[in-house]
Amino acid sequence: TTPLRLGIAGLGTVGTGVVKIVRQKANLLAERAGRPVVITAVSARSRDKDRGVNIKDYAWEDDPVALAQRDDVDVFVELMGGSDGPAKAATKAAIAAGKDVVTANKALLAHHGQALAEAAEAAGKVIRFEAAVAGGIPVIKALTEGLAGNEITRVMGVMNGTCNYILTRMQSAGLPYAEVFEEANQLGYLEADPTLDVGGIDAGHKLSLLAAIAFGTQVDFDAVELEGIERITIDDIHQAADMGYRIKLLGVAQQTGRGLEQRMSPCLVPDTSPLGQLEGGTNMCVLEGDAVEQIVLRGPGAGEGPTASAVMGDVMDIARGFRLPTFGQPATSLAKAKSAHSVTP
Ligand code: HSE
Repeated sequence: TTPLRLGIAGLGTVGTGVVKIVRQKANLLAERAGRPVVITAVSARSRDKDRGVNIKDYAWEDDPVALAQRDDVDVFVELMGGSDGPAKAATKAAIAAGKDVVTANKALLAHHGQALAEAAEAAGKVIRFEAAVAGGIPVIKALTEGLAGNEITRVMGVMNGTCNYILTRMQSAGLPYAEVFEEANQLGYLEADPTLDVGGIDAGHKLSLLAAIAFGTQVDFDAVELEGIERITIDDIHQAADMGYRIKLLGVAQQTGRGLEQRMSPCLVPDTSPLGQLEGGTNMCVLEGDAVEQIVLRGPGAGEGPTASAVMGDVMDIARGFRLPTFGQPATSLAKAKSAHSVTP
């Protein structure tokens, strides 16, 4: 049988996790896919860094674009990050060279996913991005496969673990925002540009992808109404608690009579609800469909194992020949209105 050959660009936390799974579970993966799944080539900033896995068996490319174009690569696995620059150039090159793409890059897809997906589809290729939304939670697969018989009515989610950590820690330790922000920084939770986390941008990227999948629309990140958590005070948190609520950075996407509404903002949620109970760096996705009613998915939104798990789910789909188109049709997006903190049932 023909092996599926991966070229992995980016050997940080997630890339290392993917290499480990492919190496350690070779037999299991081959059995499940009906063909071997192998890595043929890799690219990263440094070849010699100690990652706890042997990458010297694989061909090396300094340039991810060259990796994307290699004849011995069937699937370009993009785990570099960044909405532009090398990640975008290499992903475009991969599609032009006739490769399928698996990526964990929510920023790239929120900004350029529509154009990339159209290019991929025109070439008969797919872009899969389970790892880009809510880390280890297979929410894209839940929507596209498990809930394929539903009209989705609403999707909601806590999709930035760092913000959830900050908000729950403010609550439990009674500490002000600035102090907990510094703590999160010390713990290495924050993105290189922390505004991506606390400004709600990273979570907004994820929501725009989830909404496009849920409602069969094009990705429209510019239409996401965004508000971060920087202005949440300890007083806000105490007042909410007194009324039986928690403050969560919550994304909501729903079709309204006037168009698709996408909002990522601090919301009051009942403290006894699944969302209200969500602690620490965890993510949660609440999916509502006309037939299923409501399902709640909870799990790790980041980290080596969980994110690599989601990447491998996509790789396995491709290995099995399961090829879904990426996004749907253009949506009428709701005009942005500056909203006050809202209460979500
Ligand atoms: N900064 C992100 C988070 C990483 O905290 O959820 C995972 O996308």
